[in-house]
Amino acid sequence: MKDKHGRVIDYLRISLTDRCNLRCIYCMPEEGVGQMSHDDILRIEEIERIVAVAARMGITRIRLTGGEPLVRKGIASLVRNLVNTPGIESVAMTTNGILLPQFAHELKEAGLSRVNISLDTLDAAQFRQVTRNGNLEDVLEGIDVALRTGFKPVKINAVTVRSLNQDFYEYAKLSIDRPLHVRFIEYMPVGESSGIDGAGWGKKDVIASEEVIEIINTRAQAEGMGALIPAAKQKPEGWGPARYFAFEGAQGTVGFISPLSRHFCTECNRLRLTADGKLRACLFSDEEFDVREALRGGSDEAVQEILEQVLMSKPDEHHDKVGTARGMSQIGG
Ligand code: GTP
Ligand code: 5AD
Ligand code: SF4
Repeated sequence: MKDKHGRVIDYLRISLTDRCNLRCIYCMPEEGVGQMSHDDILRIEEIERIVAVAARMGITRIRLTGGEPLVRKGIASLVRNLVNTPGIESVAMTTNGILLPQFAHELKEAGLSRVNISLDTLDAAQFRQVTRNGNLEDVLEGIDVALRTGFKPVKINAVTVRSLNQDFYEYAKLSIDRPLHVRFIEYMPVGESSGIDGAGWGKKDVIASEEVIEIINTRAQAEGMGALIPAAKQKPEGWGPARYFAFEGAQGTVGFISPLSRHFCTECNRLRLTADGKLRACLFSDEEFDVREALRGGSDEAVQEILEQVLMSKPDEHHDKVGTARGMSQIGG
């Protein structure tokens, strides 16, 4: 299916819950979100039904997000049913990785094709600060399990934030010895973020990807590694806007997602569904279309009509608006 601007839209991101077992400071308040009541949240069968309708219209790829998708009950059976939906070619997930040791095997059997794991820093103390008490070892274990289980490719997402002073080079080196695809995402200053020690994070914390590339290359060359080179052959499967590079001889790649410094709206291929059944045409547009009522009382045609409305409302670009009334954990990143 195509939107008004001629873009093919074939990718649906579904937030399964606004809850999470971490509390990343740029994503959630300390007390968590969870204002959505049980009745507000789409039931598993309702999600399956909207995917069936969307697939008939041309959606072929699904990404499950959150909050943390693995805290949602019945996740493996949902994956299986989505994978078996006529028209759906691939189902992937973005997770914080903590519950992967528990679920990876079941998810693989259910037909999940790949996982992207969020991890902002390799420093355990800093990880605890960013996630408000998360344990770095749990995520590292989740990454190991994802590789061992045979998900391919496995990507790890780090949001780059100036106040954090992350060691980008050490992080990028994770792509060398194992087939890991490291990705640096420009921090999008949406919602309120207290930052660490209440210092506040905002526009000043955005680091353009080009600066991250330069920092990595300077260190790599100083250590005789050679700079990053654009990855052609090793480019991992993906439906998103990342640009990929690699160190020579590395098993994985280093990708950059640059929502602020490099608008990728002209290539946008996606719609979003929130956990409480609102369809969104753009991450940064607060216009939402309620599909929940149609799912609860209406026919498939009524559901399809709402999908058509959201498709037609998709803006050509976000026009420098970086912000949403809802937090990332509610929209699914
Ligand atoms: P691949 O198919 O593996 O390339 O996944 P993806 O990059 O589409 O998905 P993932 O959930 O890993 O997204 C990584 C991050 O990129 C998101 O969390 C967002 O921060 C950012 N991102 C993804 N899609 C969009 C988008 O449409 N607009 C903006 N501004 N940022 C996005
Ligand atoms: N800016 C950039 N990325 C973000 N994510 C969550 N909030 C932000 C933000 N403000 C990322 C997470 C995860 C993905 C789903 O979204 O780290 O990798
Ligand atoms: Fe949870 Fe991801 Fe938000 Fe962190 S960024 S609190 S892991 S949903």
